[in-house]
Amino acid sequence: MAKKVFITGANKGIGKQIAREMGKNGWMVLIGARNESRGLEAVEELHGEGIEAIYIHIDLQNQETILAAVNTIQSQHSDLDMLINNAAIPGDMRKPGYEFTLDELRNVMETNVFGPFELTRQMLPTLEENGGRIVNITIPIGTADFFNPFSYKASKAALNTMTQSLAQNFKQAGKSLEIFAIMPGGTTTDLNGNSTGPHMKTAREAGKLITDIILDGKNHNGQVINYNGAVADYNYGLF
Ligand SMILES: NC(=O)c1ccc[n+]([C@@H]2O[C@H](COP(=O)([O-])OP(=O)(O)OC[C@H]3O[C@@H](n4cnc5c(N)ncnc54)[C@H](OP(=O)(O)O)[C@@H]3O)[C@@H](O)[C@H]2O)c1
Repeated sequence: MAKKVFITGANKGIGKQIAREMGKNGWMVLIGARNESRGLEAVEELHGEGIEAIYIHIDLQNQETILAAVNTIQSQHSDLDMLINNAAIPGDMRKPGYEFTLDELRNVMETNVFGPFELTRQMLPTLEENGGRIVNITIPIGTADFFNPFSYKASKAALNTMTQSLAQNFKQAGKSLEIFAIMPGGTTTDLNGNSTGPHMKTAREAGKLITDIILDGKNHNGQVINYNGAVADYNYGLF
């Protein structure tokens, strides 16, 4: 039986490329997406490459869809091995933090932190049963003059803390679960208006780098890992 991974936001961008790479490595991919037509297109595309894929509807801002997705997985794919929390929105990346309304901040936190937290929490029994892993796709949150998007960074800082804190909880409770995070680095996708430049990767390159780390056979519990394999040190704000 193929191993199974549920990837949120896998209908385009980096998520779709992680799905492709995991599929090429023999995994069955559960394509989690909010936009159904793009989700079904991604499934078709992967099928065409001989990859086993199915679509699962999920909107991380909608608790009902999170529970429905978990229900489908528990009833039809209870042998799920991995959850990848990839879906995210950037919020306004240019305006200063002090200009954000509470609703704008909530919107980003809802998609990038609260939704993934709820999905992770609901998936824990299944994943623990299977000695599973949770992978969060994230960004460096240290201070940088050239990169200071307030709501996006605040949300990913919370996601990184969730990664490290739950990892410690799992370890201390002796649970057979692993949680870690990977930072793909600048990648040309819709999230940044498809911006290009000398240091930008293609989504395909990012998907490959992420998958190589996931499948390297090592235990990464609690780590926030850069695409080049270096583990981030948040105590000192370096990455
Ligand atoms: N691009 C970069 O430079 C970069 C760098 C570091 C980290 N990352 C991280 O990589 C991950 C993927 O980003 P990307 O660059 O591939 O962006 P993207 O192309 O914009 O894809 C984002 C995905 O998230 C989904 N999504 C958004 N809101 C959702 C919601 N409420 N519920 C469910 N799905 C939702 C989108 O689905 P819909 O089709 O339904 O909108 C889409 O599939 C993110 O976590 C991002 O923070 C990106």
